[in-house]
Amino acid sequence: TKELEEKLSNMQTPSASKSFRSAQWFNKPDDLAMSALYADRYLNYGLTNEELLSGRPIIGIAQSGSDLAPCNQHHVVLAKRVREGIRTAGGIAIEFPTHPIQETTRRPTATLDRNLSYLSLVELLYAYPFDGVVLLTGCDKTTPAMLMAAATMNIPAICMNVGPMLNGWDRGALVGAGTVVWKAREMHAAGEIDDQGVFDLVTKGTSSVGHCNTMGTASTMNALAEALGMALPGSSAIPAAYRERAQCAYRTGVQIVEMVHADRKPSDIMTREAFENAVMVNTAIGGSTNAPIHLNAIAKHVGVKLDLDDWDRLGHSLPLMVNLQPAGQYLCEEYHRAGGTQAVISELLDQGLLHQDVLTANGKTIKENNSGRTTWDRRTIKDFTKPMKENAGFLHMTGNLFDSAIMKASVISPAFRTAFLENPNDPNAFECKAVVFDGPEDYNKRIETADIDAHTILVMRGTGPLGYPGAAEVVNMTAPAHLLKQGLKYSLPCIGDGRQSGTSASPSILNASPEAAANGNLAILQDGDRLRVDLGKRKVMLLISDTEIKARMDALMARGGYQAVESHTPFQDFFRKEVGPLSEGMVFGRATRFQRVAQM
Ligand code: FES
Ligand code: MG
Repeated sequence: TKELEEKLSNMQTPSASKSFRSAQWFNKPDDLAMSALYADRYLNYGLTNEELLSGRPIIGIAQSGSDLAPCNQHHVVLAKRVREGIRTAGGIAIEFPTHPIQETTRRPTATLDRNLSYLSLVELLYAYPFDGVVLLTGCDKTTPAMLMAAATMNIPAICMNVGPMLNGWDRGALVGAGTVVWKAREMHAAGEIDDQGVFDLVTKGTSSVGHCNTMGTASTMNALAEALGMALPGSSAIPAAYRERAQCAYRTGVQIVEMVHADRKPSDIMTREAFENAVMVNTAIGGSTNAPIHLNAIAKHVGVKLDLDDWDRLGHSLPLMVNLQPAGQYLCEEYHRAGGTQAVISELLDQGLLHQDVLTANGKTIKENNSGRTTWDRRTIKDFTKPMKENAGFLHMTGNLFDSAIMKASVISPAFRTAFLENPNDPNAFECKAVVFDGPEDYNKRIETADIDAHTILVMRGTGPLGYPGAAEVVNMTAPAHLLKQGLKYSLPCIGDGRQSGTSASPSILNASPEAAANGNLAILQDGDRLRVDLGKRKVMLLISDTEIKARMDALMARGGYQAVESHTPFQDFFRKEVGPLSEGMVFGRATRFQRVAQM
């Protein structure tokens, strides 16, 4: 834009009065030999002394794409345009790899890597001569890991999403990455497709470069990065393969240099108000159940108070506006064409929601960036007053089974409501029998033989941050084949101390803390126990007496407590020693002591 070009022309000549952080390395008048040594190795690929000593800002490009991280692999191409943007604006780019995170293949779970990637990025940003950084985000955990590091470091930082894949198709119908897995499992269990059919259908979800094209955790976290103000307006939903994506890369490169000159830092942008905005946007887009974990973690690292009561209070009563899988029909191509996150934010602003004056990466307020951006397509982004669903945000559940868990209300289907919630005495509560699994292996072993009917609640335990190091994404459980063959029209409700894929559509109570492996009451639950779930009162109660609870717990502790799987790598062991519960973002408590590290 013209305005940005004007700003830039003032930046081209570095002012002698302004000294950036990188000058501590490259401009040490009292120790020139040391400065030369610092500069030396950056010259061996063609950077020149003149550039490094020019006083221009040094901008990191935190590269999360690689062959090992295919969702973000296209960043290897896009980084070229980021670099050109940085150069145009008068900065010097230094691209470096971050610890790769691949959601679907990483065992036991990619959440282990979120905190590892966070720690290593903080080290890199602290230890090397960076004045600002472009965070190349995309696949689920890459975005929160990078925002957590930006929060801790507090040097100017901006996100650039790789962008979602193009639409996937099967026989004329849309196939969403991730969501198709649940569909294929159910079709296979019901005998509708064979083994080869599973492989063919699932892989049709992956249509091009980019991250999952559904409103799973990747799309959610990038939309929320934009809602927080940490990405350019309109940037999060542009498909990876569109020309606009590479243009966005260029503009992001230009923007970060301006941010460094303006000294606009993560702590100026990621304020309490910005997080409240993101919580509200999350409901409107139908965001992933992983969003509270990640957003609460980012908040902790930037020193903002945010908890699950905030999510319920600010987010629950808002409507779901965006008609994307898994809660709806469409995929990210439609979402982008309909106006994307900007259109949603604009409409929330029109409703008098959101804090309008929060600062964003480009120096403008969220209102200046987004107001007047109405949608082009009401099939994909519904009118706030005629939404997909009312009261679509998360419920913060408590009770005698756990202190804290969340439930995504937007995926409760009419069939589920009829089967479980159409009780004339209390249309918000149901009682049912529990069947309990100790981790996914136990589930796979017993799902077909356990005593499960159409009114059973499936419980998965031993899968929290301690139990299954990193918290497994396994609380979305499919009903046994005999029920599916009988034509069960809804997903059975689930409870667990682990997580659920953002692409899953089962009505589940997730992230229960304390987890079984911390000897929370989930650990004493038995097959056949009755549970009462009250959505109105936000309670899940195990219907046995306090005396019985205590007796079972005493017996468990006498046996040495809940037995979780062993750690298999050194990091799994470190992780278990340092990590906090999912309800508080699953962060390393000791890491939150370090804030604004760049100023230290
Ligand atoms: Fe990487 Fe979905 S698995 S974005
Ligand atoms: Mg996921």
